[in-house]
Amino acid sequence: VGDLSGSDLKGKKVFVRADLNVPLDDNQNITDDTRIRAAIPTIKHLIQNGAKVILSSHLGRPKGVTPKFSLAPLVPRLSELLGINVVKADDCIGPEVEKLVASLPEGGVLLLENVRFYKEEEKNEPEFAKKLASLADLYVNDAFGTAHRAHASTEGVTKFLKPSVAGFLLQKELDYLVGAVSTPKRPFAAIVGGSKVSSKIGVIESLLEKQVCSRCNSKIVPASAIPDGWMGLDIGPDSIKTFNEALETTKTVIWNGPMGVFEFDKFAIGTEAIAKKLADLSSKGVTTIIGGGDSVAAVEKVGVAEVMSHISTGGGASLELLEGKELPGVIALDEAIVVTVQNLL
Ligand code: 3PG
Repeated sequence: VGDLSGSDLKGKKVFVRADLNVPLDDNQNITDDTRIRAAIPTIKHLIQNGAKVILSSHLGRPKGVTPKFSLAPLVPRLSELLGINVVKADDCIGPEVEKLVASLPEGGVLLLENVRFYKEEEKNEPEFAKKLASLADLYVNDAFGTAHRAHASTEGVTKFLKPSVAGFLLQKELDYLVGAVSTPKRPFAAIVGGSKVSSKIGVIESLLEKQVCSRCNSKIVPASAIPDGWMGLDIGPDSIKTFNEALETTKTVIWNGPMGVFEFDKFAIGTEAIAKKLADLSSKGVTTIIGGGDSVAAVEKVGVAEVMSHISTGGGASLELLEGKELPGVIALDEAIVVTVQNLL
């Protein structure tokens, strides 16, 4: 989007797909606005250049129209961050939306209702994509968190709307997750953990619910000597020392996956130690990249998120990218960035 000049944008209706899938509490209050804040630079750039922004996102995984998954609670925060009154549509396609688009001033923002209220979104139905596309003159995808989904608003729409370009957030995520990882300043370290543990969290939680966790038995043993009937739920002091020593001389580190079941304080020691080590390295100029929902939650829990070089807004998307998969929402764009981590390594 940075390549589009003021004259490309002034008066143009721009369909912006963002990932505003933020957590809400029972009273519909936003409990973490990271994704909203991350979407702001692209929207600001567009409105400052006189574009009319038609903003689209999903929220949660609704089955049909579900009020608790409405995007309405996001309007005040978006308006505050943008410094304008964001208008909210009750739908994402149809005559009412068209009317609102027609009355949108240059520099205005219209937030469409949850695009997943239509099953056609996830099915990537061309007719639905065409209806979304018909609202605008050009398309900007800034929804990195949803770029691994081939949905109507992330992939299908690009077939009907040209140009289709990447927003600043999507570009930044790719720069870090593909660029920095494929041509890292070396030594380069990847810390990968968590996946098997996280898939067992439900089991572990239900097991621990049956006990009082702070009193459940734990002991530190070599990884090769975990007794029968016991589970390895964190790394111990020797492993922490090994990680710290290995990381000491690195220039780039990517971390994906916690070291243990950090949701429980008792098993958060290894994860916290790595988070602190990365924070220390980051403050010394090492490039530190955190990807994947659990690792991001871990650095936030430890309070060191601010010092990291890059915190990805994509959980599943960053994992798929690091696995070497192509992201449908990215390769559908005009300036198709068809590189993946794998084919660059
Ligand atoms: C996420 O939270 O990872 C993205 O918003 C994608 O959501 P999804 O997994 O429901 O497609």
